[in-house]
Amino acid sequence: MSDGAFPVLIEEVSIQHRVGELAEEISRDYLGSDLHVVGVLRGAYQFTQDLSTKIGLPHTVDYISVASYGEGTTSSGTLQLRMDMTKPIEGRDVLLVDDIVDTGITLNWLVDYLKTRRPQSIRTCCFLDKPSRRQVKVPTDYIGFPIEDVFVIGYGLDYQEKYRDLPFISRVSPEEVLI
Ligand code: PRP
Repeated sequence: MSDGAFPVLIEEVSIQHRVGELAEEISRDYLGSDLHVVGVLRGAYQFTQDLSTKIGLPHTVDYISVASYGEGTTSSGTLQLRMDMTKPIEGRDVLLVDDIVDTGITLNWLVDYLKTRRPQSIRTCCFLDKPSRRQVKVPTDYIGFPIEDVFVIGYGLDYQEKYRDLPFISRVSPEEVLI
């Protein structure tokens, strides 16, 4: 499937506009704070980069990675730390950034894990939200776009590790990707 053939659900210009709005809101909320952005790899690499660029406050950025889905398209519910953060977060105002909150299992696990490192505060920022899929209650402080329960790729989201590079969100079935 060529890039031009992907059906677009959220256009690049809409993504960048919304990320700008989120960054403005975050900049207002964290004025005078010790903001430390923690992106969740791999899916949140594009969102974290764009958000960080648009936040108009001095802040630091780090990354963490957990494995949850394996190569499949549905949650296994099993989590494992794949890569820890490089810097301590004790006393910092942490903003945890992920590409999507689906069952909530990943975000819930990460928030619990980060709390053990004694940050001053912790909030979450997810680009996409599938509320109808939630299995565990998790705080979602900043959301880019709520979406229905459809399979999406692009802007960090993958199908078998591919298509993360697309600058837009495409709604596509795994069968279509294989064509
Ligand atoms: C995806 C996504 C979230 C998580 C959301 O990560 O990036 O972290 O699943 O799902 P949940 O709410 O059901 O837990 P994935 O494990 O696919 O890894 P990736 O970031 O490397 O794509």
